[in-house]
Amino acid sequence: MSRVLIERYRDRLPVGAATPVVSLGEGSTPLVRAARLSERLGVELWLKLELANPTGSFKDRGMTLAVSKAVEERAPAVVVASTGNTASSAAAYAAKAGLPALVLTSRGTAGAKVAQARMYGARVLEVRGSFDEALAAARELERRGTHALVNSLNPYRVQGQKTLAFELVEELGGAPDAVALPYGGGGNTRAVFLGFEELGSMPRLLPVQAASRADTLASAIRIATPVHADEVAEAVGRSDGRVLTASDDEIVRAWQTLAVEEGVFCEPSSAASLAGVEKAGLPRGSRVVCVVTGHGLKDPTLAAEHAAQPTEVDSDLDSILEAAQ
Ligand code: F0G
Repeated sequence: MSRVLIERYRDRLPVGAATPVVSLGEGSTPLVRAARLSERLGVELWLKLELANPTGSFKDRGMTLAVSKAVEERAPAVVVASTGNTASSAAAYAAKAGLPALVLTSRGTAGAKVAQARMYGARVLEVRGSFDEALAAARELERRGTHALVNSLNPYRVQGQKTLAFELVEELGGAPDAVALPYGGGGNTRAVFLGFEELGSMPRLLPVQAASRADTLASAIRIATPVHADEVAEAVGRSDGRVLTASDDEIVRAWQTLAVEEGVFCEPSSAASLAGVEKAGLPRGSRVVCVVTGHGLKDPTLAAEHAAQPTEVDSDLDSILEAAQ
């Protein structure tokens, strides 16, 4: 099995023999059974570790296709508006392709994500404004023809992203009963819906948004106006799912639980999926997948604030044993 996503699913993606494949070895992420959480919640819970993608988030599945097609279509550069992860992913794939990348980050973007995008050599502009404002500017640049837009409005992003559904069906031997995933702009929900639809078997889709969209601590999904709201409504309606809402406290608790009980350190936004499952009231024994979208090291400042504090000790064993009590 190829670890190049476009090769693994070539026959189900809009690529031709002449498409230059720009890959960092994305997709084929681990699917891990969450035994302790399953027991507590009375469901069969699985975690799809999208944080294991090359730039640390699920965005790489769509980005490999979007940047490959940008090269094929001879785009002079790519542009993206982002709360951080799309920025890093676009910057990495553009670097691999030798294309210039312009990144517009919104106010409050996690510093580590900005640093990551900068390391790949992207031109990073920190927009004094919201994600919605940054996106409006990026769309205008695309309209003027200077840049290919690689936000989820780019149809290739959605096509690459739908492979998440393919992997789940292959790994579980069929669609699960429900799939929960964080809901920011809704591109991922839309893509996962399309993937299951193509396969002809649909789980209940449970997109989970932050209660306080415009100023949630989960900065990756800090998006006041989801650009794919209509498609999410359709996905939820046709899959017999529903949009769930989680408070910041619920998201933080789920975030800590994933790390402490399952050994999975994700970023806070990614834990929205578990926060949603905890309150969804799913039938006992349901087979449920939480999509764990981004790596915990994407936001180390927030992690340091919410994890148990370390204690400084002298190096002799007595001091260490005493402090370790
Ligand atoms: N989880 C993480 C870690 C994200 O970075 C995002 C979105 C989502 C979930 C939500 O996905 O928007 O498809 O509903 N991040 C975008 C970005 C907005 O710019 O990186 P969605």
